[in-house]
Amino acid sequence: MTEMLRAPAEVKYAEELEWLESVDDGPKPFSWRLSPRMVRLFVLGSERADGLDREIPQKWFGDRSFVERAIVTLASDRGLLLIGDPGTGKSWLAELLAAAISRNSTLVVQGTAGTTEDHIKYSWNVSMVIAKGQSRASMIPSPIMTAMEGGVIGRFEELTRSTSDVQDALISILSEKYVSIPELEDDNIVFAKPGFSIIATANSRDRGVNDLSSALKRRFNFVRIPVVTNKKSEAEIVRFRTEELLRRHNIELEVPPTLLDVLLQSFADLRAASAAATSDDEKLESALSTAEQIGVLEDAILHSTFFGARSLDSQTLAGSLVGSLARRSPEDLAILNKYWHGVVEPRSKDQGGEWDGFLEGGRQAIATLS
Ligand SMILES: Nc1ncnc2c1ncn2[C@@H]1O[C@H](COP(=O)(O)OP(=O)(O)OP(=O)(O)O)[C@@H](O)[C@H]1O
Ligand SMILES: [Mg+2]
Repeated sequence: MTEMLRAPAEVKYAEELEWLESVDDGPKPFSWRLSPRMVRLFVLGSERADGLDREIPQKWFGDRSFVERAIVTLASDRGLLLIGDPGTGKSWLAELLAAAISRNSTLVVQGTAGTTEDHIKYSWNVSMVIAKGQSRASMIPSPIMTAMEGGVIGRFEELTRSTSDVQDALISILSEKYVSIPELEDDNIVFAKPGFSIIATANSRDRGVNDLSSALKRRFNFVRIPVVTNKKSEAEIVRFRTEELLRRHNIELEVPPTLLDVLLQSFADLRAASAAATSDDEKLESALSTAEQIGVLEDAILHSTFFGARSLDSQTLAGSLVGSLARRSPEDLAILNKYWHGVVEPRSKDQGGEWDGFLEGGRQAIATLS
């Protein structure tokens, strides 16, 4: 296999998906590669009660009901819209579902203010049009159109960032299930094969979600993904990602479990403080999601690997945390400073251990940035 900076889920878990398909005897909707039960199992991992000969690791951590609702939606007539705060794993869940159901998670359109109808329908290869005229051969189908033709899942990231024209075009695709190509005289309709559906994501901080037209809302089932606040699941996600990071960067670094506890605890503290804050100025700009925790850890791991020792220490971790979360100056820095004085300092006095280095590292980072 060629090297990829980041392999899509269907490549990364190819062997596992192949195996699941071979043991899957459940009924499959349309041309799905796995039955709904197996899709769920792939995403959430196996349990002893599943009676499989091998263990399937959990890949997305969250409530099983969200995953089930998402799967049911994809077998229905409607598209699936995953909504939630930044970093809650929406895109990752979308990728896993598309990989499990269609073995292709890469038919993706990225929603931005500059996304046009062409990006979700088709465009033309201009030099071929000049040479040979407009025909199916000179047409460039969008990822969504490719998904329609293949009866597989297309993805639309950050739906709410696209303009209402693009959203309207999506409505017609989702209701008519075909795209017409008025430029062509014949063979000018592309019909969606059974199995085609769309998984869109939207960031609830982008607002926009409420501005989606009611026509579009009717064509999507919404699944709201909350920030993981359950410490046990969060610890699992962080551990799962840490191992992957180390493997991906080919790093041999010891990450003491006690440090992960410090990271999880500090995020929990900061979230509680944000929840209790009465104004936006007293709230960190960051959503303090699990993904952000992973970002902090990745930063600390790379920092130690390049400039530090064989083992990650709490001072480096604190520096990465402050560096990642202090986005607005002075507001965010003031919040972090207050946290370090009011919570980290007393904790270091009471408990010592990793908190001592964490206190010191944070103080230094705050001083540098202030
Ligand atoms: N519940 C979760 N289970 C597993 N991994 C998670 C979970 N939440 C976040 N992550 C990890 O965090 C990283 C970021 O998640 P992802 O990109 O899917 O977030 P997102 O919700 O799409 O965020 P954004 O709104 O910023 O696009 C992913 O690599 C994923 O591995
Ligand atoms: Mg995303």
